[in-house]
Amino acid sequence: MIVMQDLLFSGVKPTGTLHLGNYIGALKKWTEIQHLYQCYFCIVDLHAITVPQDPAQLRKDTLDIAATYLAVGLDPKRCTLFIQSEVPEHAELAWILGCVAKMGEMERMTQFKDKSQKGGRERSGLGLFSYPALMAADILLYDTTIVPVGDDQTQHIELTRLLAKRFNDKFGSTFTLPEILLQKHGARIMSLTDPAKKMSKSDESKSGVIMLDDEADTIHHKISRAVTDSGSGVVYDLEKKPAVANLMTIYHHMTGKTMKEIETLYAGKGYGDFKTGLAEVVIEHLAPITKKLKEYREHPQELQNILDHGRDAAHHAAREKMKLVRDRVGLGRG
Ligand code: AMP
Ligand code: TRP
Repeated sequence: MIVMQDLLFSGVKPTGTLHLGNYIGALKKWTEIQHLYQCYFCIVDLHAITVPQDPAQLRKDTLDIAATYLAVGLDPKRCTLFIQSEVPEHAELAWILGCVAKMGEMERMTQFKDKSQKGGRERSGLGLFSYPALMAADILLYDTTIVPVGDDQTQHIELTRLLAKRFNDKFGSTFTLPEILLQKHGARIMSLTDPAKKMSKSDESKSGVIMLDDEADTIHHKISRAVTDSGSGVVYDLEKKPAVANLMTIYHHMTGKTMKEIETLYAGKGYGDFKTGLAEVVIEHLAPITKKLKEYREHPQELQNILDHGRDAAHHAAREKMKLVRDRVGLGRG
């Protein structure tokens, strides 16, 4: 009997330094489960150019995500770490899947609706519109079974499954249907200054976002100014106390303590004490990551070697899959 090993794929756009929301919602989970599966972690630079980019900055950010992957503890001996654009099959499969997808399905994607809101739909890039077809290509190229992402990506994973199924039904079994893997708590970390908005790179208010390379003082300052709810007790109640629930979720991920344990720890204490404690655990948790991030930034050669190796491994797998896809679709001379 052949036992199929689960294969995990995920990626991050190189559009600036990552924040605590990215870490809790995605990267931290990846480090915890990397030993259980065969893993591909991609730096999705083709996705990054769906919005205007500065070329030099994009290159810098791309290497910086690689540095972050290693700094948080992804093990290049176990995981394939690579840059999306260095494996051209991603773009090729995205085109094919774009021909399988329907306009109406793409139009329903909330990420497109959100991102096209500012400049208006008519002025949005075609790449931004077809972004989910490229994401589906990333996932389907490697027979991925598990995709660990934040819950903002759920709709994209559902679309990936739909496209895979439609392709398989039409052309014969080719793609594996992936499952999303969500965090129980922390699939969506909210801004410290506005608990109704997710913590985001594009947040104008920098004080609501803790960056992975923030200095201890900055973290302290940001957390001390975080908004809280009315009342005073440190109690986990997502409905009535969304701001405190968000801070408790962060605490939970920094320490491994359950919500009940955090409530007990701060029973009878106020928000001030809790925020002081939270700042301490965040600083303690992030210190080794920030240190390693700085070290990798200063030694890019090691990153280059790891990315070369990752590109070769990913390319090998992607090339094989695309031979099958081209054959199924009827492209080329066979
Ligand atoms: P992005 O920065 O949008 O490329 O996101 C990279 C990864 O981080 C994705 O898996 C997102 O779902 C996740 N992510 C981004 N922002 C948050 C957040 N505020 N809370 C939890 N996960 C997040
Ligand atoms: N769209 C994802 C995000 O914004 C990034 C991404 C691109 C991705 N391709 C992927 C995530 C494939 C998981 C699998 O976070």
